[in-house]
Amino acid sequence: MNRKKIALIGGGQIGQILALLAAQQELGDVVLLDIPELEHPVKGKALDLLQMAPADPFDAKVTGTSDYRDIAGADVVVITAGIPRKPGMSREDLLSTNLTVIRAVADEVRTHAPKAFVIVVTNPLDAMVYAFHKRSGFPKQQVCGMAGVLDTARWRAFVALELDVSVEDVSGTVLGGHGPTMVPLPRLTTVGGVPLTALLDAATIERIAQRTREAGTELVKLYGKGSAFFSPAGAAMVMVESYLKDRKRVLPCAALCQGEYGIQDLFIGVPCRVGAGGIEKIYEIPLDDHERSLLAKTVETVRESAAEVDG
Ligand code: APR
Repeated sequence: MNRKKIALIGGGQIGQILALLAAQQELGDVVLLDIPELEHPVKGKALDLLQMAPADPFDAKVTGTSDYRDIAGADVVVITAGIPRKPGMSREDLLSTNLTVIRAVADEVRTHAPKAFVIVVTNPLDAMVYAFHKRSGFPKQQVCGMAGVLDTARWRAFVALELDVSVEDVSGTVLGGHGPTMVPLPRLTTVGGVPLTALLDAATIERIAQRTREAGTELVKLYGKGSAFFSPAGAAMVMVESYLKDRKRVLPCAALCQGEYGIQDLFIGVPCRVGAGGIEKIYEIPLDDHERSLLAKTVETVRESAAEVDG
């Protein structure tokens, strides 16, 4: 059996961790691509990883390049190309710069890897995945954004920290846009099957929800000149793995809604089944009035951001 091919567009902070995780998990051979000016550093990162393999050990070929022809035939493309946030910036502040990048990347991916399952990570996430889809013309099953898995991981991590339990036993989901309007769902979060609402009072739950909504910004402040990279890479790999192994995991992804939750023609975080068919299905969770109103607010924000892509 031939190895799968994973193309990583953007070989910066997140791209390099994606390469490490993909190789360590032996999900396939990895191509790490960056702009021509950074061809040497990505070649270096690839070579460094290759030399890590015997110690770990893992079998995966890792190459660095600035030539899009090297992504030909990729099964999966993960896009982190673009600029990250600096302190004081919102994700939306990145829109015009990263829109130009995403459009250029979409043209190249359409030419060289037209069958690939594409996961966009570049921010502002919901607008960037929408822009990729529009520009590439790829079917909606083939394009999604990584945000919900990360937002949910943050929610689960903070809940586990509060209760001093394993993160593995905290199950839940976060809906909506990747920004301060995202919607953690405490009512549907469980800890080893026990409802979260039976374990923590409302004020504590709200404090954790607020930390989740601001988790990316908390890291931007701490890092000083960039944004999170371990956790976004880990979250994107969960999606890559589910696709390549046809695991059919149910994961919150930024997917194109066409009527689901009453949302028309917008990429936004919703629970999806991710398998060999890409985004195979969107699940509609019955929401209560409060949750519906929070979802309406996040939809409005994401729609404004998407309008800038259209405009
Ligand atoms: N093609 C390929 N790579 C590109 C292109 C392009 N057209 N334009 C920029 N890049 C590369 C940059 O040269 C850089 O190496 O994308 C890389 C981005 O890496 P970092 O600056 O280290 O940013 P990172 O922390 O990885 O975040 C990338 O993901 O989560 C989002 O907000 C984050 O938008 C940001 C993106």
